[in-house]
Amino acid sequence: MESIRQFDVLIIGSGAAGLSLALRLGNAPRIAVVSKRALSEGNTYYAQGGISAVLDQEDSIRSHVEDTLNAGAGLCDERIVQQVVEHGPRNIEWLLKNGVAFTRDPASKTSGGYHLTREGGHSHRRVVHAADATGRAVETRLESQARAQSNIDLFENHIAIDLITRRKMGLDGQRCYGAYVLDRESGHVETFKARFVVLATGGANKVYLYTSNPDVATGDGIAMAWRAGCRVANMEFVQFHPTCLYHPQAKSFLISEALRGEGATLQLPDGTRFMPKFDPRAELAPRDIVARAIDHEMKRLGADCVYLDITHKPADFIKEHFPTIYARCLDFGIDITQERIPVVPAAHYTCGGVMTDGQARTDIPGLYAVGETAYTGLHGANRMASNSLLECLVFGELAAADIRSQLDEVQEPPKLPAWDESRVTEPDESVVVSHNWDELRRFMWDYVGIVRTNKRLQRARRRVDLLNHEIIEYYANFRVTNDLLELRNLVVVASLIIRSAQARHESRGLHYTLDFPHRDDTHQRRPTVLFPDSYVPPGAAD
Ligand code: FAD
Ligand code: SIN
Repeated sequence: MESIRQFDVLIIGSGAAGLSLALRLGNAPRIAVVSKRALSEGNTYYAQGGISAVLDQEDSIRSHVEDTLNAGAGLCDERIVQQVVEHGPRNIEWLLKNGVAFTRDPASKTSGGYHLTREGGHSHRRVVHAADATGRAVETRLESQARAQSNIDLFENHIAIDLITRRKMGLDGQRCYGAYVLDRESGHVETFKARFVVLATGGANKVYLYTSNPDVATGDGIAMAWRAGCRVANMEFVQFHPTCLYHPQAKSFLISEALRGEGATLQLPDGTRFMPKFDPRAELAPRDIVARAIDHEMKRLGADCVYLDITHKPADFIKEHFPTIYARCLDFGIDITQERIPVVPAAHYTCGGVMTDGQARTDIPGLYAVGETAYTGLHGANRMASNSLLECLVFGELAAADIRSQLDEVQEPPKLPAWDESRVTEPDESVVVSHNWDELRRFMWDYVGIVRTNKRLQRARRRVDLLNHEIIEYYANFRVTNDLLELRNLVVVASLIIRSAQARHESRGLHYTLDFPHRDDTHQRRPTVLFPDSYVPPGAAD
C-alpha cells in the first residue's frame, strides 16, 4: 500500500545542522526530521575539541577570518568566511540559551567565564568546549529540544533514498518536492512530500578504510543531490585527522587536537619530536601539514604509528579536561597521564560537498544543504579545526530564515509518483554488497589517500567505474536495503573525489600529489566544480 506523508519542511539528517535548523524554523511549520539510525548517531555526537568563535575580548573577528583563510590555502570564499565568523558569538549564545553546558573558567577575565582552548591553525584561544565531549553536549540538548516540540515529527531508522524533483517527474523547470525514504524496520519505502527539503546528512568519510567517523557517514546527501542535478565542489579536499588512536580494537577513536593545544608533542617511536622540522607552528600547524608529516615519518621508518605525549601536564588537569579520552585509552590499557598515546591519521572531514549560496540554497529551488554535506566556501582547501560545528549552526540559522521568509508563498507540491517496486526481481544480495564495500574503502585508502599520484588516481578510477556498473545492476534488480543504498552512495562519492583530484594539477591544502608537488596560484586558484548530467542551469528553471 502506498504511504505518503506531507510536511512543510523535510529535513534529512539529525546532527547539529539538521536539528538546529529544525528548531530555528519556529512552532508554525510542520517539520519532519528523518534520520537513518538513532537520532543522535552522526558525526556531531562524537565531536570532541569544540566550536570556534570569537568570545575573548583580546581576540578579534579579523584574526579568526585570517586564520581560516590561511588554513584554507587560498581557496576560501572570503565573503562566506566573514559571514560565518561574524555569526559565531551569537550562535554560541543560542546554544547556551538551549542549555548546552560549556566548560567554564572562572579565573579568566576576558573570555566571559568560559574556558577557551586552542587548536591547529588558530592564532588565539577561541575554541569553546564541553570538556572533550562537545558534540555529545550539543547533540543531546538539541535532541531533547526537538523531541519536546510538537510541530517536529522525528523518524528514526528511516533512510532517504532519493530526492523527488520536477525534472525526475518529467516536468519542465526544476524544484524539489520531497524524497523516497526506506523505513529500515518495516522495509517499506514511503514518499515524503514537502514544500522545502533540506539535506543535513553529514560527511562521506566511510569511503575510506580508516576513519574517525561513525558508520552513518556515507555521503548520502552529496550522492542524492548529484543524482538530482546539483553541482558539487572541492571533493578532492578530504581532511585526514592526524591523531586517531592506534589500537586493533579502537575503531579509529579520535584523540582531540585540543591535547596538542594544551602542549602535547608528537614523537617518533624513539622519542624524538619531529613536527618543528616540518613547520614553525610545529604540532599546531594546520591539519594537512601535520597529517602529511606523520605519514612521511611513518613511511620513512616503516613504523606502524607515531606517539602523542601529554604526560608533561598534571594528571588532574588531564582527567578534568580530557575525561573521555582518558577513560577510553585506559580501556585499552593506556594511561595517558603516564605514557604516550600511539596515533595514526584517519579520514575525518569532507571539505567539499553540495554547492550552496550564502543562504544554504542549492542549484535546485526548494532544496537546501547544510553542515558537512554542503560546500559553502568556508573551508577552502583545508578546514580549520572546530570551524565545522560553527558552520552547521550558522547555516542552520540562515537556511531557517530563508525558508521562513517563503513559507506563505510556496505552494504544496503536486501529486508525486509512488515508489516503483515492479523492477525488483532478485532477493537481497548482502554478501556481494559487503564485499564491494570493503574493496572500495581499501582502494580509496591506498590510492586516494594523503599522498596521491596520477597513476594511483587512474587505478582508483578504473575500479570505481567497474563498481559503479555493478551497483547500477544491483540497484535495478534487488530490493533496496540500507547497505545497498549506502554502497550506492559511497561509489558516487568515491567517483566524485577521484574525478576532482584528477582535475587539480597542483598540490594545495589537503590535496597532495607527487606529480604536481607545488601550488599553482596562476592556473589553479579556484574551486573544483563538477556538473552532473541532470544539471539545469539557473534561468532554465521556471
Ligand atoms: P552529522 O552530525 O554527521 O549528522 C548527519 C545525520 O544525517 C545523521 O543523523 C545521519 O544518520 C543522517 N543521515 C545521513 N544519511 C542519511 C539518509 N540517507 N537518510 C536519513 N538520514 C541520514 N567539528 C568541530 O567543529 N569541532 C570538533 O570538535 C569536532 N570534532 C570531531 C570529532 C569527531 C570524532 C568527528 C567524526 C568529527 C568532528 N568534527 C568536529 C566535525 C563535526 O563533528 C562534523 O562536521 C559535524 O558534526 C557535522 O554535522 P552535520 O549535522 O552536518 O552531520
Ligand atoms: C578534534 O577535537 O581534534 C576535532 C576537532 C575538529 O575536527 O574540528
